[in-house]
Amino acid sequence: MVAIIIFLGPAGSGKSSLTSSYSRWLREFLGARIFIVNLDPATEFIPYKPDLDIRDLIDIHRISKEFGLGPNGVLVKAMDIIANEMIYIFEDLKYIDTDFILIDTPGQMEVFIFRDIAIKLVNELKKLSNNVVAVFVLDADVIKRYEDYAFISIMSTALQARMGIDVVPVINKIDLVQSLLIVGDTISDIDIVIENIRNKGLYGEMLSNILNIIWQYAKATRVPRVSAKEFIGIEELHRIIHELTCSCGDLT
Ligand code: GTP
Repeated sequence: MVAIIIFLGPAGSGKSSLTSSYSRWLREFLGARIFIVNLDPATEFIPYKPDLDIRDLIDIHRISKEFGLGPNGVLVKAMDIIANEMIYIFEDLKYIDTDFILIDTPGQMEVFIFRDIAIKLVNELKKLSNNVVAVFVLDADVIKRYEDYAFISIMSTALQARMGIDVVPVINKIDLVQSLLIVGDTISDIDIVIENIRNKGLYGEMLSNILNIIWQYAKATRVPRVSAKEFIGIEELHRIIHELTCSCGDLT
């Protein structure tokens, strides 16, 4: 069954670059067939050749003129149009013979995740396959403090609750940082983080408790550290995606 991977994340975190590097890795190392969807109507440049490009269906400049909208308003409007047309946009994908469908989402994560489009997208994709996961791409620069790790875990859990699919947090641009506070293995990381935030009063205690609970229910126990640019860590990312989508592996 086809595996479907949705790349989510804040603006500039490297969603498109990782979509590109991961597709390249899947083709070169597994000989897999890939179908790539660009769902960002406002992007100027993407580093891969999309098989389905939302820009062919939605003209952001026309919408902007027609409704008199600025840069944020036009994106919100575009998301709502895509959400309403979702069934038709993805209709033909059921006839496509491929191993992986990779979906690159809009730059501004909030216009995607806080609107109907995120839910409708997952509903459509679940009609195509039971193997749908999201990769939550974060810039390594975000992780400077122990609290940042708690933030990532909580955000991933929130995304999981919102979308109803497994979410794999990924730290990208690892080539740009000298060292990270975390090692990428959840058990060790949570121990390190809890050790460092536990004594920060009531707030630290609350975060520690939340992390402990998240950990008890977590399926994937690693946070891959990758560089889409330098092609680092892509195999580890794939291993985690594979284990989640084929439900065949021990994730510890
Ligand atoms: P938007 O959709 O426009 O918000 O961006 P995005 O999340 O798709 O990020 P994109 O892939 O466009 O990358 C943003 C910038 O980060 C580009 O200049 C990339 O070249 C750079 N970039 C992406 N991944 C990496 C990486 O692993 N290392 C480094 N050094 N730069 C990266």
